Amino acid sequence: HAVHRARELAVHQHDPLVALLHLGQEFLHHPLLAERDREEIVERAEIKVLAPKQEDRLAALAIERLHHDVPVLVAERFDFGEVAREQGRRHQLGEFIEKIGEPVKLEHPERGEWGDWAFYGEGSVQPDEVVEKVESVGGFTNIWLQKSYLVSQMERVIEESDRFGSSKLGEGKSVLVEYSSPNIAKPFGIGHLRSTIIGQALYNTYKFLGYGVIGDNHLGDWGTQFGKILYMLDGEKISSSDLTIEKLEELYVKFHRLAHKNEEMGMAARKWFWKLENGDPGARKIWRACVDISMAEFNRIYDLLGVVIDNAYGESFYEAAMVEMIIEAKKRQVAKLSQGAWVVEVPGSRTPLMLVKNDGATTYAARDLATLKFRRERWDPDIIIYEVGAEQSLHFAQVFGAARRLGYVREGVKLIHT
Ligand code: ARG
Repeated sequence: HAVHRARELAVHQHDPLVALLHLGQEFLHHPLLAERDREEIVERAEIKVLAPKQEDRLAALAIERLHHDVPVLVAERFDFGEVAREQGRRHQLGEFIEKIGEPVKLEHPERGEWGDWAFYGEGSVQPDEVVEKVESVGGFTNIWLQKSYLVSQMERVIEESDRFGSSKLGEGKSVLVEYSSPNIAKPFGIGHLRSTIIGQALYNTYKFLGYGVIGDNHLGDWGTQFGKILYMLDGEKISSSDLTIEKLEELYVKFHRLAHKNEEMGMAARKWFWKLENGDPGARKIWRACVDISMAEFNRIYDLLGVVIDNAYGESFYEAAMVEMIIEAKKRQVAKLSQGAWVVEVPGSRTPLMLVKNDGATTYAARDLATLKFRRERWDPDIIIYEVGAEQSLHFAQVFGAARRLGYVREGVKLIHT
């Protein structure tokens, strides 16, 4: 039963990290990860159990040794050099490695008859409360661990249950992870899938490392795409009650196909968005239907992935805050009028950031600035991670620059776009 439970825990806890490894290296190059964390994660991933400390690795080994059908916990290969040295203060195995003076590869042999651990080289390791038996064979030193020791380690895994392998590294610090963020009335794209999985893995990992973590799904539920949908619906005479996710996606694609050859369509769509922003009841009703239909689809995907995001303050949530932010930016003369549009100059950026277009419509960037202001007032996180594709890096560089000019970013706060 104990082994079963331990295995369950390992599989369950490790899940997001496995997902992440499949997605490649991005996460490991996350600018926030200190070298030490990175190594921990690599190691954890390798032994497929959350085991940042030496003792935890032993526990993993214990489970695997005592019960051979727990492959999820098998360690392929350990580099115990550093860890063993750490252990050296307490145990002869470490001292022994200390003496050799260079990192020793302690392997987890393929066959049980070669011990629990083995390394290439000879040395004197004596049986004690941890080491049961030592054998030298063909240049290798094979070490068997005491069963009682393994059992005691395993007990700890079970006792610590969901906390097993966790740490207090982030105590007193908070991280906001913004992830997934699909767009209403548009398809849930591969970029959103990627953001969802990496974002959830980051969220879980930070939580496990002791940080206060806030998840936020910055839904694209406002903006000119609604003008396009509204325009199309108006033309096709479809009522909001007949809308489906397929229909919405079809209309969006169709608009782009037709608008290519028809400039007036773009203008008409902008007009529809203007109506929406200015509270037209018909436009609002359709907008609401679009949000509901798309959310049902997104939730279906989240359920499949086992993803739960704490908050979903979409762009539309910032409608009022955005107006306030724009007034503030104008008052403080950070926003300037340029060819009928309101823009903010950003140090180091050739083009300014647009807050309000010359037709009076607010922008995606304006909503991001209002969002930053809100996040500071609501949670005041130390770190904000934007898990969004690289094609938006210019946008974020500008938003971060403008936000600092507007005083929406406290000193020492890290804003990270990955
Ligand atoms: N909805 C956007 C998109 O699909 C992603 C949102 C990114 N986050 C942000 N704070 N701008 O492209």
